[in-house]
Amino acid sequence: MAAGTQVKNVEVRDIARIERIGAHSHIRGLGLDDSLEARAVSQGMVGQQMARRAAGVVLGMIKEGKIAGRAVLLAGPPGTGKTAIAMGISKSLGKDTPFTAMAGSEIYSLEMSKTEALTQAIRKSIGIRIKEETEIIEGEVVEIQVERPATGVGAKVGKLTLKTTEMETVYDLGTKMIDALTKEKVQSGDVITIDKATGKISRIGRSFTRARDYDATGPQTRFVQCPEGELQKRKEVVHTVSIHEIDVINSRTHGFLALFSGDTGEIKPEVREQINTKIAEWREEGKAEISPGVLFIDEVHMLDIECFSFLNRALEDEMAPVVIMATNRGITNIRGTNYTSPHGIPIDLLDRMIIISTSQYRESELREILKIRCEEEDCELSDDALTVLTRIAMETSLRYAIQLITLAGLVSRRRKSNEVEIEDVKKVYSLFLDEGRSTQILSEYQDQYLYDQKPDVGGSGEPMDL
Ligand SMILES: Nc1ncnc2c1ncn2[C@@H]1O[C@H](COP(=O)(O)OP(=O)(O)OP(=O)(O)O)[C@@H](O)[C@H]1O
Ligand SMILES: [Mg+2]
Repeated sequence: MAAGTQVKNVEVRDIARIERIGAHSHIRGLGLDDSLEARAVSQGMVGQQMARRAAGVVLGMIKEGKIAGRAVLLAGPPGTGKTAIAMGISKSLGKDTPFTAMAGSEIYSLEMSKTEALTQAIRKSIGIRIKEETEIIEGEVVEIQVERPATGVGAKVGKLTLKTTEMETVYDLGTKMIDALTKEKVQSGDVITIDKATGKISRIGRSFTRARDYDATGPQTRFVQCPEGELQKRKEVVHTVSIHEIDVINSRTHGFLALFSGDTGEIKPEVREQINTKIAEWREEGKAEISPGVLFIDEVHMLDIECFSFLNRALEDEMAPVVIMATNRGITNIRGTNYTSPHGIPIDLLDRMIIISTSQYRESELREILKIRCEEEDCELSDDALTVLTRIAMETSLRYAIQLITLAGLVSRRRKSNEVEIEDVKKVYSLFLDEGRSTQILSEYQDQYLYDQKPDVGGSGEPMDL
């Protein structure tokens, strides 16, 4: 470094991790114990015990993987945790069980027909486990010898000695393998596997016999036994993909890149037929297994009669997933008809469903949910403020109260406090209207708005006395 140059004091700032907090990010499962009984507060879930218990039974059914084509309806008033319970189910499923979530309104897109959108959603929710046998070499590295050409140019050659508890073999190495070994930092005493087809090298850990070589071990070193038996082994690997993925990959017009853009368009029925035949063959040969997953359709009253009839039929297919639907509608019009029906769902479909109902929360439960949301949003709330917020949730809605948490947090930070006090909650309550007060104002001043038609709306709209 040239004399006189000053070394700048580089400030190292902590980069705050930016995590998006979604409406259901506090839900980590259904919060059930081993006997499927719902714990009062667990995994971010509060109350609603009957519904959670029922969801637990459904979850068990799905996990068994044997039952397909069942339909479950979560029905209840707005803000009673229907979507939250579906998210809880999704979190409790293993990564090998597909879970697809969609809103009823998603099917109305210009790009594809309604039934195609539903078919894709259904096929996204069916997993297929494909078994593949590969040959690998697995052993403990005894020695790696690399000879570099004296001139520095030309191919590198070398030898790799691997052993198991029973045998030891020397393999010739070419440049590619030497590079791969160097890249993986393989040294003697490591237990490695080499995939024979691809040449991929993976380090499994260090052999126990080398546990005393302190130099070569870091804190994260994993110790493993020296493998037994033959060096060459057959290994079974299982990949889980959804049938939709297979569809897209085999659809000539799109190709697998469409999987990343999501721009898959319509898939021809012939392609699907071919794939279904292929999957049936794989199943017969024992190469593949079907694992029916879950399709969650939120706001299901947005579907119309054609979709319902399509679903009715699709549920009967042998490869159908479990379909969970949610709605907050009472007896209402079935979209696309002049008939009304409970939840806006045709009776023949309702008849095939099992219905889980959710009910309004008690004050203590609302308090607990709000408390969990405060923790989730890293917002300290004084006890009094929480009491006021709970009252707001009782009088208006849980959703409105949850929204106020973030806002009150911002207001308290403005006055350089780490804790949200009653005053902050009161302030945001007066700044931001809930549905009831907004309706009240609209009906008072409606003549000042455009296109007014005297609404016939409910809601007391009286502001609360906080
Ligand atoms: N039992 C619960 N435990 C924890 N959080 C809950 C519970 N019930 C609801 N919530 C939370 O309250 C908010 C509203 O609930 P949710 O969105 O699940 O209602 P919903 O029944 O789906 O309502 P809508 O019919 O309007 O769709 C969400 O942020 C949700 O995570
Ligand atoms: Mg919902």
